[in-house]
Amino acid sequence: MTTSDDTRRPASTPAAPTTGARFLKAIYVYEVPVRLWHWINALAITVLAATGYLIANPLPSLPGEASDHFLMGYIRFLHFAAAYIFAIGFLGRIYWAFVGNHHARQMFRFPFWDRHWWTELHLEARWYLFLEHKPKLYVGHNPLAQFAMFWCIGVGSLFMIVTGFALYGEGAGVDSWQDRLFGWVIPLFGQSQDVHTWHHVGMWVILLFVMVHIYAAVREDIMSRQSIISTMISGVRTFKDAEDAADEDGHLVPPQRRHPFRIWRRSNPAAAPPKTPAQVG
Ligand code: HEM
Ligand code: HEM
Repeated sequence: MTTSDDTRRPASTPAAPTTGARFLKAIYVYEVPVRLWHWINALAITVLAATGYLIANPLPSLPGEASDHFLMGYIRFLHFAAAYIFAIGFLGRIYWAFVGNHHARQMFRFPFWDRHWWTELHLEARWYLFLEHKPKLYVGHNPLAQFAMFWCIGVGSLFMIVTGFALYGEGAGVDSWQDRLFGWVIPLFGQSQDVHTWHHVGMWVILLFVMVHIYAAVREDIMSRQSIISTMISGVRTFKDAEDAADEDGHLVPPQRRHPFRIWRRSNPAAAPPKTPAQVG
């Protein structure tokens, strides 16, 4: 399998020669820090949502002396510990957007003035609604995913961090760094309870994103003929169909000329095709 570092190319233009395997083109897309951040962030959000929900809807009282329990204390401690991981991870992710490859920047970009991008976003929405027969292939995120990631996770994380640390500053006290940096948020929203409410709404925006995101990742992994979930693990995107793979001259093989066996031979002439039972005999 060959991998290429040049990810600027759309998947449907001539690319590096393909592989010995049947129809395989592989491109390195998500670097290690992006993948590490993705999974740590997913875990942090799971803890934040579960503990946040319990902060808003505390469990019924436990039996016995209140002083025997520290349940809400543990729940809040978990929330704040995960919050620090979430916030530091987000800062690290912003840093990587500057120093990483151009896919690392995609989540922070919203190409509002790019008419082509909006057209493709519309096409992608039609594909998700089962109104298109074939998806467009993307090396990085598709425009619809980019849109959701920008608003729900890019802007959404910033919102949760700012409102979260403003609430935290109330407990940490005046003159704590949290209060000095984020104290202004409380009067901006009105009062503390308003910030609680908006912080809570933010959780549901992120959770809605997560539900759709996981559905889409599994769906596209099955339907789009390109790797999706394994790409967020290995970093490498593979394209599974002949028309998405290039021949040995770096040209795409048009669908009408597509023949799995021939492409296999042409793209790797040195390797012999597997023998048929008749040949073996
Ligand atoms: C709390 C849970 C999750 C959150 C908040 C989340 C968020 C994100 C974000 C922000 C990205 C963009 C990454 C970047 O450009 O830096 C992303 C990509 C991705 N996520 Fe998640 N994710 C979550 C859970 C999952 C799970 C459980 C799966 C697997 C089923 C998954 C599969 C993927 C895949 C495959 C991509 C890359 C999509 C592509 O190839 O374009 N995510 N996710
Ligand atoms: C995805 C990220 C986050 C989610 C889903 C989340 C969720 C929640 C929820 C649902 C609540 C209860 C709000 C209410 O109805 O009163 C809450 C409270 C709170 N959160 Fe977060 N939060 C997140 C990030 C953060 C961050 C980054 C901080 C920063 C330290 C933070 C600090 C707090 C504080 C201080 C409270 C109030 C605790 C209390 O009153 O006992 N949260 N969070």
